[in-house]
Amino acid sequence: MTTTSGLRLGVIGAGTIAEFHMAAARQSAGRVNVVAVCDVRAEAAEKLAAEAGARVHTDHRAMLDAGGLDAVVITVPHALHAPITHDAAAAGLHVLVEKPIATTREDALGMIEACRAAGVVLAVGHVLRFVPTLRAAAAYLASGELGGVVVASERRTADYADPARPRWFLDADMAGGGIVLNVGTHSIDKLQMLVGSPIAEVTAHVAVPAGKAVETEAVALARHADGTRSTINVTGTGLPFTDEAEIVCGQGAVRISRGDGVWSFRAGAATQVAAPEPGEMARAFAAQLNDFARACAERTPPEVTPEYALSVLDVALAIYQSARLGSTVTVKGHP
Ligand SMILES: NC(=O)c1ccc[n+]([C@@H]2O[C@H](COP(=O)([O-])OP(=O)(O)OC[C@H]3O[C@@H](n4cnc5c(N)ncnc54)[C@H](O)[C@@H]3O)[C@@H](O)[C@H]2O)c1
Repeated sequence: MTTTSGLRLGVIGAGTIAEFHMAAARQSAGRVNVVAVCDVRAEAAEKLAAEAGARVHTDHRAMLDAGGLDAVVITVPHALHAPITHDAAAAGLHVLVEKPIATTREDALGMIEACRAAGVVLAVGHVLRFVPTLRAAAAYLASGELGGVVVASERRTADYADPARPRWFLDADMAGGGIVLNVGTHSIDKLQMLVGSPIAEVTAHVAVPAGKAVETEAVALARHADGTRSTINVTGTGLPFTDEAEIVCGQGAVRISRGDGVWSFRAGAATQVAAPEPGEMARAFAAQLNDFARACAERTPPEVTPEYALSVLDVALAIYQSARLGSTVTVKGHP
């Protein structure tokens, strides 16, 4: 139940991304208020809670038992998304869980069922859906101005060698995988959004460096349900930050990059469709939290449904399976 004083939110996991959710709540003008913060690391919970004057817990069950919450945002390592979502749903709380929804299909299906049975909203943090320049690019491509999409490519880097990176990222059980599950799920979502068609089949290769438990590089060729082919290239070693997609259409092409915004190229002419926006990720997190608050108040589906998030996980799992088998794999749910 939400109150006139706004959605009373608990944050579970006071790490890197929790800061973005806290900032989003601050921007909500009272629509969402963080009233409790939990982390197994007491000092991390205390630091984050201090910003909002929220109460502090080091055990999420104690936080749920203490009451006074309408919803939680779950920002913990991937394998903990499922058990904590089950506990929150059992306590009658709406859930915004970070991507990926879970590390296995079974876990994701269990989360969806638990939230459905409890009558609570389950939203998943595929925040790219709320990035203004990506929305502008998707709308431009869907307008058909350049004709239909023919091929697409998506390239993204992350620094897996950074010693400051939390250790769980390299723990196969806790992370559920490496760069594919962590960063590749953003790439899968972005390509599906820009192409306007889900990925139905993948042929992939992943590389696990010697001495590491998870892959730090992956390449995949995807076939979308509408026949479009795209490539995904995510790499965690050495390269400077890149976040770029290129979509080639019948009469021209679009380049979307974090640094340069959205450019359209046709017959030798370049036109900027959307300028890069400083702070656009912060705006996206604010829009995501607003959408979650709306879904909780109205008891209607969030923009990113858990079923959609499961479809993204299914593509990531198909990439792993393809890499293991050395052959093309059909994504679950596609003919
Ligand atoms: N949407 C995005 O752009 C984006 C970006 C980064 C991370 N993420 C996602 O956010 C989630 C968290 O990633 P992060 O980078 O913030 O990781 P992080 O390691 O910085 O933060 C995770 C926090 O969870 C805490 N924690 C671990 N077990 C816990 C438990 N049982 N109860 C309470 N707290 C616990 C850790 O102590 C840590 O502070 C992951 O799902 C990740 O994929 C999303």
